Amino acid sequence: MARSEPEPFDFQPGRVLAGKYVVAEFLGGGWEGEAYLVHERTTGFPRVAKFYYPERNEKGKSLKEYVKRLEKLSDLGCVIRYMHSDSIRFRGEKLDFMVSTRAPGKQLSYYIKKRGNRLHPLEALLIVEQIAAGLEAIHAQGMYHGDVHEDNVMVRRTGIHYDVRFLDFLHLGPTTVKRKREDVFDMLMLLRDMTGGKTRYARQPELIKRLVKGGKRSLVLKEFPTALRVRQFLAGRDAPDFI
Ligand SMILES: Nc1ncnc2c1ncn2[C@@H]1O[C@H](COP(=O)(O)OP(=O)(O)O)[C@@H](O)[C@H]1O
Ligand SMILES: [Mg+2]
Repeated sequence: MARSEPEPFDFQPGRVLAGKYVVAEFLGGGWEGEAYLVHERTTGFPRVAKFYYPERNEKGKSLKEYVKRLEKLSDLGCVIRYMHSDSIRFRGEKLDFMVSTRAPGKQLSYYIKKRGNRLHPLEALLIVEQIAAGLEAIHAQGMYHGDVHEDNVMVRRTGIHYDVRFLDFLHLGPTTVKRKREDVFDMLMLLRDMTGGKTRYARQPELIKRLVKGGKRSLVLKEFPTALRVRQFLAGRDAPDFI
């Protein structure tokens, strides 16, 4: 495991990639690679190009698994749409990239920071409701996300509505009940993170505590084994008053 950290690509604005895309801006990087806002040369349309670190994309597998998932979920409004993949030569190596639509809005982590690391419980619940609806749709297609966290969920607010988009699906193996449940659990831990994390948990309204249950996995999954159950709870009579 003691592998060296991948060297950043650090593509600069204006650089032309594969003759087809012009780099506009660096959007973010994570474990697998780096994502850039690019413009398609022929149309000027904005797209996102995700470049994979070769050591984390052996035989192009990470890219292939990701785009397979995006393609299967292409009818869902809550998932970015895969467009095209290609490769370039860079530093003497073949570098794979995939191009997708650009998710509107910002990373959820950006909202959390902007609000001083703590969203109002109601805002956090409105976002969770949308994440739950998205996961429900993804799970209904026989898929799972595998890496639900604040950097992989993009959020755009319009009035009091939060539009949520998922990116960065992980390939951990076949879809199982357990993997779908992990998505639900990760989502509810994200609710705790959104509302100020562990340190503020004790001061949260009852409704948040009913969902997070102090982070106790078995208790959480007993009451909320599916995203549907979370949504039903949020819309139902059992949800305690909190305003
Ligand atoms: N389609 C997209 N639309 C908008 N932003 C994106 C898109 N894809 C990636 N990003 C941004 O780039 C970051 C890194 O991309 P991601 O696919 O999560 O890569 P990694 O697997 O390296 O974490 C994301 O957290 C997000 O901020
Ligand atoms: Mg990511």
